[in-house]
Parts: sequence; C-alpha cells; structure tokens
Amino acid sequence: MAIHYDILTIFPEAFQGIFSIGMVRKAREAGLASIAVHNLRDYAADKHRTTDDTPYGGGGGMVMKPEPIFRAVEALLAQPGLPAENVPIILLSPQGRLFTHEVAKELARHPRLIFICGRYEGVDERVRQLLATDEISIGDYVLSGGEIAAMAIVEATVRLIPGVLGDPGAPFEDSLAEGLLEYPHYTRPRVFRGAAVPEVLLSGNHAEIVRWRRQQALKRTWERRPDLLKKARLTPEDWEYLQKLERGEAD
Ligand code: ADE
Repeated sequence: MAIHYDILTIFPEAFQGIFSIGMVRKAREAGLASIAVHNLRDYAADKHRTTDDTPYGGGGGMVMKPEPIFRAVEALLAQPGLPAENVPIILLSPQGRLFTHEVAKELARHPRLIFICGRYEGVDERVRQLLATDEISIGDYVLSGGEIAAMAIVEATVRLIPGVLGDPGAPFEDSLAEGLLEYPHYTRPRVFRGAAVPEVLLSGNHAEIVRWRRQQALKRTWERRPDLLKKARLTPEDWEYLQKLERGEAD
C-alpha cells in the first residue's frame, strides 16, 4: 500500500533536499509514496498573501491565521483521486503526543496523511479545536516550526511501507522493531587504530553471531535506555541474559 503525504508550510523550499535522497526518493520512484508540498500563502485571501497576524490579548510574536490553513486542508480533501475519508490531519507542535516507532507504525497504516507545519510562536487555537485530528511532537525541545518534524515523520513512515526497504527482514530493522537499541556494526578493516572487530563476527558461526547481536542489543538497551526494556518483546533467554547483566556475570 502506498502513502500520499500532503504538507502545508510557509517554507516549501525547505523540503526539496531531504525528499530527493535515500529511502524517500526510492519510495517515490517506486510509486510507493507521493509527496505534495503546498505553500500556505497560496491559500491566503489578500494580495500580500498573509498567513499570520498579531495575537488577541497582546504580547509579542505572531499567530498563524486559521483561514489559509482551513482553506488549504479543505481544498486538498476535495481533490479527486485521493482518499478523503478518515485522513489524519496532523498538527506538528511541541504540545503534541510524542512521536515514536509505535506512532510511526500507526500512521503508516493510512493511505494519506496531511501535515500542518505550524510556526512555533503559535497557530490559532481553532486549528487545533476544529480541524486537526492529531497533534504530534518529535521531542521535548522547541524548533522554530514544524517543518523538520514533518520531514522526520515522512522519513520514519516511508521506511515502513511494504516494499520500500529492500529486504523486509533486514537485520538493521530487527532490534528497534522489537523495542531494543541496535547492536554494534563493523566493516573492514579488521583492526582499526588498535580496536579489533569482535572475534565472533569473523567466526562464520551464524547461530553464535545471531546470539551475540541479540545480547549486544539487550546490553546497550539495558545500559542506555532501560525504560525501553519494559515494553520490549523479550524471550526467556533474553531475561536470563539481563539477569546475568544485573548480577555482573555477563559482559
Ligand atoms: N514545532 C516546534 N517544535 C516542535 C517539536 N518539538 N515537534 C513538532 N513540531 C514542533
């Protein structure tokens, strides 16, 4: 199933580079993703193409006007040939729910996604109240707008469209899909500046390699992100290894 992405922004030029490289490019070329970036100014009503205004109640900064955003979303949903029912209309803001791999999986099930890139200073509350069906943050920090957040979400969801990644069982995907951090990766040379590639990876023993990688993923997660272990899908053997780590009996 392909995904059509619509992105509403006052900076459409920001998206050119990132959407023409890597997996996003591959997905577009394969017809598995299509991306339309729309300039919100095209939906402004006045000759200056105004998309923001001063806040009621005073104070500094500008607020994005609701009309161009509503007009744009309504025009997009009226386009023929694209899904118009149950399309998530996602406002990007630091106030939204946190974007995770789980949320990426949930979004990737939709054939169409609409993103509204707010400027950080503010978007008229009526957009949140009456138009957006979801609000997402990519982390607890403040960006000056939702553009980078939209790029991150496109990039993370495109990879989940069946057929975009060459090998669906690629080892790179395994750990995170199971809620763990990645195991360490090595390529040539065998020894670099005194640091050697672990012997097991040179052994040719596939079962041992699989076991080592799993344990390294568990160890990394245990050391760096123990919070992830609570939700990870773990086998009895995994638990045994984690208990050894706790007791200081494993390396
Ligand atoms: N806009 C500004 N900061 C953001 C964030 N952290 N996530 C999503 N959109 C944003």
